[in-house]
Amino acid sequence: MEQYVIKGGNPLVGEVDIAGAKNAALAILSAAIMTDETILIENLPDVRDINVLLEAISEIGAQVERVDKSTVKINGSTIGNLSVDYEFIKKIRASYYLLGALLGKYKHAEVPLPGGCNIGSRPIDQHLKGFRALGADVDICHGAIVAKAENLHGSHIFLDVVSVGATINIMMAASMAAGRTIIENAAREPHVVDVANFLNSMGANIKGAGTDVIRIRGVETLHRTEYSIIPDQIEAGTFMFAAAATGGDITVRNVIPKHLEATTAKLEEIGCEVEEFDDAVRVRAPHTLHRTHVKTLPYPGYPTDMQPQIAVTLALAEGTSIVTESIFENRFKYADELSRMGANIKVEGNSAIIDGVKKLTGARVSAPDLRAGAALVIAGLAAEGITIVDDIVYIQRGYENFEDKLRSLGAEIERVSSEKEIQKFRLRVG
Ligand code: EPZ
Repeated sequence: MEQYVIKGGNPLVGEVDIAGAKNAALAILSAAIMTDETILIENLPDVRDINVLLEAISEIGAQVERVDKSTVKINGSTIGNLSVDYEFIKKIRASYYLLGALLGKYKHAEVPLPGGCNIGSRPIDQHLKGFRALGADVDICHGAIVAKAENLHGSHIFLDVVSVGATINIMMAASMAAGRTIIENAAREPHVVDVANFLNSMGANIKGAGTDVIRIRGVETLHRTEYSIIPDQIEAGTFMFAAAATGGDITVRNVIPKHLEATTAKLEEIGCEVEEFDDAVRVRAPHTLHRTHVKTLPYPGYPTDMQPQIAVTLALAEGTSIVTESIFENRFKYADELSRMGANIKVEGNSAIIDGVKKLTGARVSAPDLRAGAALVIAGLAAEGITIVDDIVYIQRGYENFEDKLRSLGAEIERVSSEKEIQKFRLRVG
């Protein structure tokens, strides 16, 4: 298993280019199969989840041509299999977007029920509620969701919980359902808007994405388009907190500052200087970080995917901070790992109470999930001494060239896969 080995203590300084948004790309790649014409998608992040989903799309029979690492052509006219293989859903939950896409286009889809995840149980009842409201028969057979419909018709759907996945999945199916669909209590994340814009560029008729009421008029067919994915606000935010935690000065480029507002607000609260440009944001860390309280909320609130990153930064802030996770029930699994680095963090229910300490010290830790793994790397970059992060396959799911980008900012970090390489790193960095 590969690991990161890090020698902490260097302030990270410089500029880093942000890749396309993983969570927008996963939905857009799925929606691309809804036409029989060729779709060109650019600014794809070169990360494991994207590559796995492209395999799943190819496996059901679509033509997938990787033009380069961040550009792909997809043509769904040759799809012959409406059942997605379990191995894909096991690797990435977001394969469930193929449900909405295949149901919308073929009125039939079979996708294995996604399992739980490291951050919580993550049911998909709202997705299924939406498909049923559109007229589909939805059953669970042998661990798979089987959705079928003579025809799909518009409906007025009230989501019981603000769900990014359900909003996007229902929006995809409804875009080819006869008549009008209204989705109430819709998620407002930037990637929901990106998927709606993508579908509209294919000839769909979707209005209101980015608000909590999305109105869709179904169309018979969708057509070719060329589309570029929005920048990944979570990758950007991760580097912004890396600046804060290491006492650095980082400019994230190719971003949409508006998508980062909640993150920027918290960075300023803890003492950072944040400067916004048209497509870049610069973060300069203060000499001493201040405490704050933060609660994760659906967009435009503070993002749950940035919760571990602010927590590890607050571990070094002066004073006591409280981080409350309101979206997922099990997103503090990194706390014990962070404690091994000297942090003073106590999880009580869905909150973590963090008493800032003067310094963290390097230790051997394990990434429990994607964002917590990235946060532990940030902790290692800020800590004194050597940190080894195990199970970095989680991090590679969502961060393109993570160690290269960090090294370009002055980090002492290497991806290794043996004790021998770790020893060589220790000798090199002294
Ligand atoms: C998306 O997950 C993201 N993943 C997650 O990012 C992100 O944390 C999450 O949205 C929230 O922003 C992708 O886009 C691939 P939800 P999703 O449906 O769609 C409950 C990352 O790190 N819920 O908005 O699965 C659910 O349990 C990942 O990139 C239901 O109860 O999240 C959760 O408590 C981690 N029933 C809440 O809603 C449902 O049918 C929000 O989940 C669906 C969701």
